[in-house]
Amino acid sequence: MTPEVELLQLFEWDSSAQNLKLREELAAGLLRPQACIAPKFFYDPLGSRLFEAITELPEYYPTRTEAAIFREYMPAIGQALGSDFTLIDLGCGSCGKAGRLFHAGILPARYLAIDISVDFLRESLQHLKRELPAIEMTGIGLDFTDDLQLPDDLPPGRRMFFYPGSSIGNFSPPEASDFLKRLAGQMDATGGLLIGVDLIKDKAVLDAAYDDALGVTAAFNRNLLRHVNVRLDADFDIGDWRHVAFFNEAESRIEMHLEARRALETSWPDGAGHRVRHFAAGERIHTENSYKYSPAGFKTLLTEAGFDAIQMWADPRAWFALFFARQAVTRT
Ligand code: AVI
Repeated sequence: MTPEVELLQLFEWDSSAQNLKLREELAAGLLRPQACIAPKFFYDPLGSRLFEAITELPEYYPTRTEAAIFREYMPAIGQALGSDFTLIDLGCGSCGKAGRLFHAGILPARYLAIDISVDFLRESLQHLKRELPAIEMTGIGLDFTDDLQLPDDLPPGRRMFFYPGSSIGNFSPPEASDFLKRLAGQMDATGGLLIGVDLIKDKAVLDAAYDDALGVTAAFNRNLLRHVNVRLDADFDIGDWRHVAFFNEAESRIEMHLEARRALETSWPDGAGHRVRHFAAGERIHTENSYKYSPAGFKTLLTEAGFDAIQMWADPRAWFALFFARQAVTRT
């Protein structure tokens, strides 16, 4: 018998209120003078799988480097997390990183997996539960970048938030700071945060990581328009759009864009009529930022957000870092 996983669907793409909110968000972004689409729209079922493929690319070093840090420092990481904790996995994807912790003997009392891609989450968590039936597992289909709702019955103590993969880089630094403050507010002094952060490095390495020779990142970026077509009933022709990605050194971030190959227009139904957005040849839709930090810069961000007792583990080239931090005891 396959053990079933409790899946709390606090957020579903297809619930009508959420769908309307997301349609409005998409339309507002497309109609801005500098058109943009939020990176969370990458993760439809195909987008989630394309992202998994990206993590296998030779150019995309973050996943591999982070995994090596985990392997090297697993005992210290296990010691930092302690025992009898709830692991709250933010953007769990395939649940592979949590699975590796569990297989290394770092076992939580309860595992809470949160991801916006509900179908992918269900599949991944069911797979993990089959491997590790003794761990209590709950899935939450949620856009946690908006509002992190945790189950009411979740004990306040020993909450360990797990945010690997440098997804924090997909927020701007002020957004990252707000997000970290909200996390600190969701735990007590027995809680902590284990977070992966991509570090500043040579521009050529960064450029290649986001514009790989096989074109998988390009497919991931362009798949966004397929997803927008479904969500918004829009009529983007994917063939009209080119993937653009580069490291902006002044802003310390990778920027990803989709660039129109020719002058074109796209439209979607809006109330009684249609909205139309014209794009000039070469005009871009900004689809993602991926900020890179210095170790000191990220420590400051953590401290200012309400964390202390910060530990950091990095690879020998200092390309990537894993931080563990505790919620700073609030003294009144
Ligand atoms: C999910 N996130 C951390 C990835 C990154 O590196 O910013 C998303 C990604 N975009 C293109 N490649 C990978």
